[in-house]
Amino acid sequence: MESRIYPCMVAGTGSYVPEKIVTNVDFEKIVDTNDQWIVERTGIKERRFAADNEFTSDLATQAAHKAMINAGVSAEEIDLIVVATVSSDNIFPSTAARVQVNLNAMNAAGFDLEAACAGFIYAMDVGSKFVSAGMYNNVLVIGAEKLSSLIDMQDRSTCILFGDGAGAVVLQRGNENTGRILSSVLGLDGRRTDFLQIPAGGCRIPASHKSIDARLHYITMKGKETFKWAVTYMVDSAKKVVQNAGFTMDEISLVIPHQANSRIIMAAAERLKLRDDQIFLNVEKYGNTSSASVAIALDEAQVSGRIKRGDKVLLVAFGAGFSLGATLLEW
Ligand code: ACO
Repeated sequence: MESRIYPCMVAGTGSYVPEKIVTNVDFEKIVDTNDQWIVERTGIKERRFAADNEFTSDLATQAAHKAMINAGVSAEEIDLIVVATVSSDNIFPSTAARVQVNLNAMNAAGFDLEAACAGFIYAMDVGSKFVSAGMYNNVLVIGAEKLSSLIDMQDRSTCILFGDGAGAVVLQRGNENTGRILSSVLGLDGRRTDFLQIPAGGCRIPASHKSIDARLHYITMKGKETFKWAVTYMVDSAKKVVQNAGFTMDEISLVIPHQANSRIIMAAAERLKLRDDQIFLNVEKYGNTSSASVAIALDEAQVSGRIKRGDKVLLVAFGAGFSLGATLLEW
């Protein structure tokens, strides 16, 4: 029997951020920092923190719901739910399981995927393969994080960087130029796992009084080193995916990079010789939302009219692992 590969497109996008805004000035009351330092070093002005009783699955559900409305797809029609996250409600079961019930998408299979800040791009790629193989018609891909539960409020070099939120897309079999996936690259460099990690809580250092006292259940990062690799890998991934699709960087209408730090983004943009109008930035409003970051930015770019028919849109991300990925779409 002849095997077929079906084209895959983004049929709808959605995003959700919690109501509570935490400004840099709010952080001045918690750690020895100031608004000017944070803005100059990161570009971040504020971020959102979820409520105590609002979890990653809740943020994911809200974003997914909007993406499904945008795509015109009902809950029963969802075949697969992939949730990219590093802040799952529990170690197990999956956040996807909770999202399934929240949405009442009981015909769907589902799982979580962990590729840190490149998680959404990984999840889109994995989800699109199920569509391309003809196995599923509607795949819900979500990037969602409640990072406020993982940051060390005593560590001024990391606590100011992260925020909560979720973004989602519905992937569908289709050839229309509405978010058609043209090409994608994924990568991993596992030699530097200690640069950016949560040391405890897994089987290496299970939870204990000692691990809690040592504050090992929070995000730790070697900032300067991470910065350098972020630029290098984002540039490499972007070049590769554009080249693979047979385009030049000049032909890309909009680059939606992982929103970790505006200095990382601008350094990568300089190396890629991008014009300012080619770059999408919203890090000032949300900080680094890891797996959710590119997904939220894609939805905002779409809703605000930054993406027009025929546009080539490049998603590119880098995260702990180090994980890296890029996807080129044609709208
Ligand atoms: N407020 C005031 N001062 C601070 C703060 C703060 N919030 N944080 C650190 N400092 C101080 C440091 O203690 C240091 O002081 P010292 O010189 O007296 O020792 C000084 O500022 C400089 O610190 P550096 O760490 O060298 O500052 P740097 O310019 O490297 O900026 C930053 C730090 C913003 C974290 C930067 O390294 C960075 O952005 N790194 C990449 C982080 C990132 O984006 N990671 C995520 C990408 S991957 C992913 O998203 C999973």
